Amino acid sequence: MRKKVTVVGAGNVGATTAMRIAEKELADVVMVDVLEGVPAGKALDLCEAAPIEGHDCKVTGQSGSYEEAAGSDIVIITAGIPRKPGMSRDDLLSTNMGIMESVCKEIAAVAPEAILIIVSNPLDAMCHVAFDTTGFPKTRVMGMAGILDSARFRAFISMELEVSVENIHALVLGGHGDTMVPLPRYSTVAGVPITELLPPERIEAIVERTRQGGAEIVGLLKTGSAYYAPASAAVEMAEAILKDKKKILPCAAYLEGEYGIRDLFIGVPVKLGAGGIEEIMELKLSEEEQKALRHSASAVQGLVDDIKRLRG
Ligand code: NAI
Ligand code: 2OP
Repeated sequence: MRKKVTVVGAGNVGATTAMRIAEKELADVVMVDVLEGVPAGKALDLCEAAPIEGHDCKVTGQSGSYEEAAGSDIVIITAGIPRKPGMSRDDLLSTNMGIMESVCKEIAAVAPEAILIIVSNPLDAMCHVAFDTTGFPKTRVMGMAGILDSARFRAFISMELEVSVENIHALVLGGHGDTMVPLPRYSTVAGVPITELLPPERIEAIVERTRQGGAEIVGLLKTGSAYYAPASAAVEMAEAILKDKKKILPCAAYLEGEYGIRDLFIGVPVKLGAGGIEEIMELKLSEEEQKALRHSASAVQGLVDDIKRLRG
């Protein structure tokens, strides 16, 4: 039997994620949204593309009901509002917190064994809401951000050095916000750290563009935020889990002392396989890198405290 992935939120990120999962033949896909007709319409459109794309995955869509999500192996949550120009990811907190709680209650009821991949912003804080609401173990609740931020870093390095993106590995840790921590020392071109290939001022410019990568796209689109690269990143996580690849990827994970951080979701390298987060990798960070990660953690902690205040 094919695996089942439910994508909650059939908007830009959700529908693109559904499309990529089906086209890679990873699983049957169920899309759920509050909008009447939209998930079913997009699902039908994707099914009509299947004969041309040559895949046999079933894609279905439901409005306001989670019946078809029952027994999902993975649930990817993209439900919520995206930001508009001038808004930070954190401005979305109170609206998306309510949406995340209501979605997670439904998912916990119909798919209690699922692995959750959270996408909605503010990402790290939304992982907390999902973790608290579902009561799922920490191995089965994770957030997508580090892969996207690292892919942006990789794309900008590739543009700067005019080399294939395939030769570039890069790593961004920390919260998905302005305090994220791109790590040039761990970012390489064919194995050579970029610190040996680029002058410090060019690296700093690329790091800053990476930090502002989401805002750069919001500024251009004006009506919403990025979705092609975010969907690719969410699908890379789903694929690693569905194929039990044991792939090392930066994801938001619940830390209990690793990196000196406790009881907080934040982006770190993890091993993703059939069990979800099978291991958290602790890199040796320099004092400066560790300080930047702590600073990022305190920004995420601020949002988690806001959630507690909002809940009263
Ligand atoms: P969108 O507006 O295109 O889609 C969101 C969808 O969620 C809409 O179709 C809406 O009807 C649906 N929705 C709202 N409340 C719902 C509920 N209670 N149940 C089910 N569906 C519900 O937005 P887009 O661009 O797809 O972004 C979605 C979220 O993902 C935003 O919060 C955005 O900030 C976040 N995001 C996070 C990224 C990351 O790196 N973690 C990257 C890109 C987006
Ligand atoms: C991004 O980084 C909006 O978080 C989203 O594009």
